[in-house]
Amino acid sequence: MEEHFENEMNLEFISKSANEAFARISVAAFASQLDPTIEELADIKTAVSEAVTNCIIHGYENEFGVVKIHAKLNQNKIIVEISDNGKGIENIQLAKEPLYTTKPNLERSGMGFTIMESFMDSVDIESIVGVGTKVTMSKKIKKEETNQEELSQMTSMP
Ligand SMILES: Nc1ncnc2c1ncn2[C@@H]1O[C@H](COP(=O)(O)OP(=O)(O)OP(=O)(O)O)[C@@H](O)[C@H]1O
Ligand SMILES: [Mg+2]
Repeated sequence: MEEHFENEMNLEFISKSANEAFARISVAAFASQLDPTIEELADIKTAVSEAVTNCIIHGYENEFGVVKIHAKLNQNKIIVEISDNGKGIENIQLAKEPLYTTKPNLERSGMGFTIMESFMDSVDIESIVGVGTKVTMSKKIKKEETNQEELSQMTSMP
């Protein structure tokens, strides 16, 4: 069965670290349609930031390339795919290990994937060496009862 998404967006930008803030703010603005808390938004921003930085630093190793973001909203869930056509990851299991980094000399702590996993509900990594990497993350936004009540009160007002 084909999945139906309530909203979708695509974003493409070149692999410059200056675009990292642009990327996380754009995804946060898109996610705000789900009425998230400040904390939930901060979690999404941090996870996006880590994934985009990885594309720029590891995928393209600061060479020119394109980073793509595809985000979808479905019910109260956001799904964000972040991909590059860079060098790819040889061993995904190892890359996910806390403190594992292939660039220890660049002040990398090897915590990017661990951070994504702790701030999002799910993180899936697909990668082919020489072809690229795609990270798919999802997070459910927990709407509070009071919000719903307030909303229905507001919409029933004359
Ligand atoms: N998009 C990518 N393309 C190629 N390799 C990647 C990509 N993302 C991650 N990796 C590999 O996975 C490793 C682990 O990534 P992770 O984000 O957990 O740590 P890090 O980027 O090395 O350090 P930190 O994120 O703490 O600065 C990286 O060192 C790199 O070898
Ligand atoms: Mg990283």
